[in-house]
Amino acid sequence: MNPYLKLLGIGLLATFHSAVGIAQSSGDPAKGKEIVAKTCVACHGVDGNGPVPNFPKLAGTDAGYLLKQLREFKNKRRTSEVMEPIAGALSADEMADAAAFFASQKPAPGTVKDPSLLDAGKKLWTDGNPTSGVPACAGCHGDRGQGDERYPRLAGQYSEYTQDQLGQFKSGKRKNDKRQMQAVADRMSEQEIKAVAEYIANLP
Ligand code: HEC
Ligand code: HEC
Repeated sequence: MNPYLKLLGIGLLATFHSAVGIAQSSGDPAKGKEIVAKTCVACHGVDGNGPVPNFPKLAGTDAGYLLKQLREFKNKRRTSEVMEPIAGALSADEMADAAAFFASQKPAPGTVKDPSLLDAGKKLWTDGNPTSGVPACAGCHGDRGQGDERYPRLAGQYSEYTQDQLGQFKSGKRKNDKRQMQAVADRMSEQEIKAVAEYIANLP
């Protein structure tokens, strides 16, 4: 290839990538707040700390992760009878705005239902289960479950929602994770799922 064309190509690619980068992270939290107050509040609360345990808390979760989930509900890579039509009705900008708003909110602390499971949950979180090959959750989601763009925040999440998602990964219903979580959940017992969900609810 002509070296000038090659250079030009690389330059264009770099411009394209940074443009995409900006488009992805430029959600406007003020606009997002209005969208949430109108469309999301009944289930996720005014600030992403909804009151019902089947509806995930979204406050303080990375905007890039939330945006990925909304896109995937919209294009049905992640299935949910409830969220598919809601995300389907949002434009790309509205999704980015709502994600930016939820990410900027303060996560409320979780509630532990069965403290007797916390020790077993902590062990799985920190060390995994070498016998069955479950890896330590902390390895990807962070020591305190704080998460980042790729690995979602889990700390303080409702144990019901956590158990439901682990069940969805295990059964293959949820498969928008490049098989990372499916491989983890496949190896977990029902008891381990319950225990780790309590531990996650307890993380500040
Ligand atoms: C009628 C209740 C309801 C409404 C209204 C609703 N959601 Fe949801 N949302 C859910 C449920 C249920 C799930 C979990 C879906 C599943 O995986 O089964 C969810 C999941 C999500 C997730 C994925 C969270 C994660 O941790 O992976 C995002 C992001 C989200 N909703 C954003 C929104 C936004 C933005 C709005 C408003 C535009 C909205 N939701 C309105 C019920 C609702
Ligand atoms: C190899 C990395 C990795 C490990 C180890 C891992 N996870 Fe995950 N987890 C992920 C990824 C990646 C996602 C998000 C997938 C996506 O983009 O939808 C995820 C998502 C989740 C979700 C869904 C969160 C939500 O908001 O919907 C739960 C719950 C979860 N993980 C729990 C666990 C638990 C419990 C463990 C330990 C037993 C664990 N994870 C270990 C990579 C990992």
